[in-house]
Amino acid sequence: MSAPNKSYDPVEVEALKPEEIERMRDEALAAFAAADSLDALHEAKVAHTGPASPLALANREIGALPPHAKADAGKRVGQARGAVNKGLAARQAELEAERDARVLVEEAVDVTLPYDRVPAGARHPLTTMMERVADVFVAMGYEVAEGPEAEAEWFNFDALNFLPDHPARQMQDTFFVQGPKGTEESGSGVVLRTHTSPVQARALLDRELPVYIVCPGRVFRTDELDATHTPVFHQIELLAIDEGLTMADLKGTLDHMVQSLFGADMKTRLRPNYFPFTEPSAEMDMLCYVCKGESIGNPDRPCRTCSSEGWIELGGCGMVNPRVLTACGVDPEKYSGFAFGFGIERMLMFRHNVEDMRDMVEGDVRFTRPFGMEI
Ligand code: DAH
Repeated sequence: MSAPNKSYDPVEVEALKPEEIERMRDEALAAFAAADSLDALHEAKVAHTGPASPLALANREIGALPPHAKADAGKRVGQARGAVNKGLAARQAELEAERDARVLVEEAVDVTLPYDRVPAGARHPLTTMMERVADVFVAMGYEVAEGPEAEAEWFNFDALNFLPDHPARQMQDTFFVQGPKGTEESGSGVVLRTHTSPVQARALLDRELPVYIVCPGRVFRTDELDATHTPVFHQIELLAIDEGLTMADLKGTLDHMVQSLFGADMKTRLRPNYFPFTEPSAEMDMLCYVCKGESIGNPDRPCRTCSSEGWIELGGCGMVNPRVLTACGVDPEKYSGFAFGFGIERMLMFRHNVEDMRDMVEGDVRFTRPFGMEI
């Protein structure tokens, strides 16, 4: 700022010359008119009305004028600043109106679009597969039975004829919730059930005979999670106890199940095996539903689903061991029956060519979506 100057002539103070003030005003107005966006206008505003703008600087010069010249110069600067502010406000209003009109078009919402097309959630394919299998039996008059996942060791093993020192107990690697039966720290073993077979014993104790039940559920074994193992998996168990049931009923029931699930030309076969709770026991295979057995010994027609074996292993089955019936208070002289059980993960794997079991537990919708939105 210049120092006070008694003999001041405003015309000699360059910044306060009338034509200078007019030029500053006109430049500001031209800059506002040239601003084609609110951002550009903001820049012009800072340049022409801010504290460092020519008019603001000129305004400061007024303080240095002699009193008689102040009013005149003040009026001219004030008028110029007034015109600039008016011009700015007008351009601001114009650009805002343009922006609002543009936003209305660009961000328009078509309120006539359908609003309810949110994809419905779906249950996991393992759940729907279990239900599909259970439904086959419900249609035949079986009831769905459930048991606890944390199960008494007695139901999981003893009632099913796994004697305390029976090697079969080691066959299954068990999560013990309360120490193994007979150890120092605990007398009553509780395990995470290693199979759905304990539901057999519960059903026989709970229900009136005859008993026809199907038991889907989650089971647990101390396996590491990898492509073919998971410590938590699913089984479906079947139990039929009545007067006069034979192995022919078991075979017919298995055939009916695979025909319902995989097609009318399907069948099963039994191979001898051992389970403590069935006698005789068998491993059940079903015909490969892809090649229908045609890949056996036929190099021209290899089958990936069954590795050209023609058959796919499904699970275990057999006639319920009379010892199990006795343990559950059922007279083995009068009643007999059959049971089977198999894993759902395995069935999902070969039915849908799922190569890695981890995909089933990771919960990624990219895995579940192709199964459809079945609910
Ligand atoms: N519980 C057996 C397992 O987990 C499967 C099984 C075999 C179930 C034979 C049965 C059966 O009902 O009769 O390996």
